[in-house]
Amino acid sequence: MTIIVTGGAGFIGSNFIFHMLKVHPGWRIVCLDKLTYAGNISTLAPVMDKPNFRFVRADICDRAAVDSLFAEEKPDIVVNFAAESHVDRSIEDPGIFLQTNILGTQVLMDACRKYGVKRFHQVSTDEVYGDLPLDRPDLLFTEETPIHTSSPYSASKASADLLVMAYHRTYGLPVTVSRCSNNYGPYQFPEKLIPLMIANALNDKPLPVYGEGLNVRDWLYVEDHCRAIDLILRSGKTGEIYNIGGHNEMRNIDIVRLICRELGKSESLITHVTDRKGHDMRYAIDPTKIHTELGWLPETKFADGIVKTIRWYLDNRPWWEEIVSGEYQNYYRKMYGDR
Ligand code: NAD
Ligand code: TYD
Repeated sequence: MTIIVTGGAGFIGSNFIFHMLKVHPGWRIVCLDKLTYAGNISTLAPVMDKPNFRFVRADICDRAAVDSLFAEEKPDIVVNFAAESHVDRSIEDPGIFLQTNILGTQVLMDACRKYGVKRFHQVSTDEVYGDLPLDRPDLLFTEETPIHTSSPYSASKASADLLVMAYHRTYGLPVTVSRCSNNYGPYQFPEKLIPLMIANALNDKPLPVYGEGLNVRDWLYVEDHCRAIDLILRSGKTGEIYNIGGHNEMRNIDIVRLICRELGKSESLITHVTDRKGHDMRYAIDPTKIHTELGWLPETKFADGIVKTIRWYLDNRPWWEEIVSGEYQNYYRKMYGDR
């Protein structure tokens, strides 16, 4: 079994590669990644020398490069994690989101058609459903919830999902799509809420909470997401969409307070800053389908996962310190400078 994992030098993709090499030691994993600001080759160092692992630096939008990799590897499965993934960046500059997230997906699917790939799996997000009101805790996103996007990021992911389903219906491409809630865990780039707050707290820097911090996200430990995708690849039905989430809704402000407590830092570091434009209020996944049809359940409780995650950032300071000391400083000044 040969599987091409795109975006495998990023947060979830790298965790997925580690997971798959562990549970399917006989499979060959080929990682295709452009190494944008979010891709980090050092993350993959522990597996780089494995005989059943190969890293290829390429852009999923580069038709010739994708074609030659598929011709060489003849993959059985393609899992597409490659994307521009940060909402705030999409608000600043949407173009690259449309390019990578939509057109890149098309390039990959065209190659899958040409080389008869047996499964194309698109890693999508709960953000395609838009947001839910805070005062209706009974409402959850199911796979039937209409797409209703807010940010250029979520609009680009939703567009890709529509295209994936169109390739299934029109060309019979064997696809599956998963829509997961917010992930957290090791190797997450420190532009996202949890690693940003951990890194800032450890450096005694202000903790920039957007608005009142009352927005709710449904958090899932990254390993649970990886297990769900593995299960969908093996037992999921083609043409189907699966929601992934663990019924773990948390307000941003409560997460930031928890991080302060765990690190023994004062909550006076918390600084309320101008809210994100078009900020989604609440995400909440109904994972009934993947539970009843495939038997998936999350294994890591948030209370344990967040402690493990904080411990990882404490034990792996060089990994994120290298990031925050480079080009990230310009990003940080631009996004938070006079917010
Ligand atoms: P990430 O930003 O950490 O990593 C993205 C990876 O894709 C990087 O390694 C980057 O170099 C690579 N990449 C970007 N553009 C590329 C291109 N044109 N060609 C090849 N590689 C390219 O993202 P992540 O948080 O790991 O998210 C992975 C996927 O999961 C994304 O599709 C995202 O939409 C989805 N998702 C993320 C979350 C979350 O909470 N992080 C939740 C649900 C779904
Ligand atoms: P983020 O990690 O960017 O994920 P997403 O927007 O895809 O859910 O943000 C999670 C939540 O945290 C979101 O409501 C925005 C908020 N947030 C802050 O309050 N401050 C920050 O510095 C960041 C990055 C996010």
